[in-house]
Amino acid sequence: MATILGIGIATLDIINTVDGYPDEDAEVRATKQRVCRGGNATNTLVVLSQLGHHCTWGGVCVDEADGQRILEDLAYHAIDTRFCRIESQGKVPTSYIIVNQRNGSRTIVHYRDLPEFKFVDFQMIDLFAFDWLHFEGRNVVETARMLERVRQVCPLIPVSLEVEKPRSHIEQLFSKVDVLLFSKVFAQGNEPALFLHKMQRQAPQARLICAWGEEGAYALDTDGTLCHSPAYPPAQVVDTLGAGDTFNAGIIDSLCRQQDLPTALKHACRLAGKKCGQVGLSILT
Ligand code: FRU
Repeated sequence: MATILGIGIATLDIINTVDGYPDEDAEVRATKQRVCRGGNATNTLVVLSQLGHHCTWGGVCVDEADGQRILEDLAYHAIDTRFCRIESQGKVPTSYIIVNQRNGSRTIVHYRDLPEFKFVDFQMIDLFAFDWLHFEGRNVVETARMLERVRQVCPLIPVSLEVEKPRSHIEQLFSKVDVLLFSKVFAQGNEPALFLHKMQRQAPQARLICAWGEEGAYALDTDGTLCHSPAYPPAQVVDTLGAGDTFNAGIIDSLCRQQDLPTALKHACRLAGKKCGQVGLSILT
């Protein structure tokens, strides 16, 4: 089992389940409501922890009731939060989410007003304690400094970067990591193999992976080998919230076990498929 550090966000997710996505300006009743911790990096760590890895989170939280709730959930999942920065003012990032129970789609309105995790916070972490480092592709200027530090201090520790949304200058991070985890949204309608080859020109050192929803996922190895895994959809898709984060955990899990890229891709697709068939991220129950 690996010791994994994840840098990124934790959120409060307020999830309303509805029977069909509402029209604009409609008033509808939710059939269920759930309030829980979310956030890409911490979601990925929660899945990795259930797969048996020792996980640590680096991010920002707030000293208030919802911040407490987040820390309790991470503690429940045995995730070490000692490097988390606790702000005395502010509010944890909050997502207002509509899950359509007819097809499992999740629509997210996200609000944040909290400083990001900074290079100075990251500098406090003894990186040699970890076998794998995972970063969310956000906060580009500070993240670039963090990745540069990794390369200077411990260049042999594998690093993955999640690239979910287009963000200004995010491509500056691509050449500094070993594994790039792209979303379909980031690929923006490009054909997957073409997209990965395009990305390879910017990051020839990295193994490139792109989740492709119902069509599974694609990967391009550094030697130019392209592979594909089909999706493994559940009998009924009930909740896709966090499916991408679960997919990323599957890839990291496999690669930490020294499995090859086709095996990792298949494992990640299976795990993400299982997640879509259930509510929440308790993937092993
Ligand atoms: C799912 C998720 C939610 C969170 C939102 C943040 O991938 O991490 O848990 O509210 O995305 O963008």
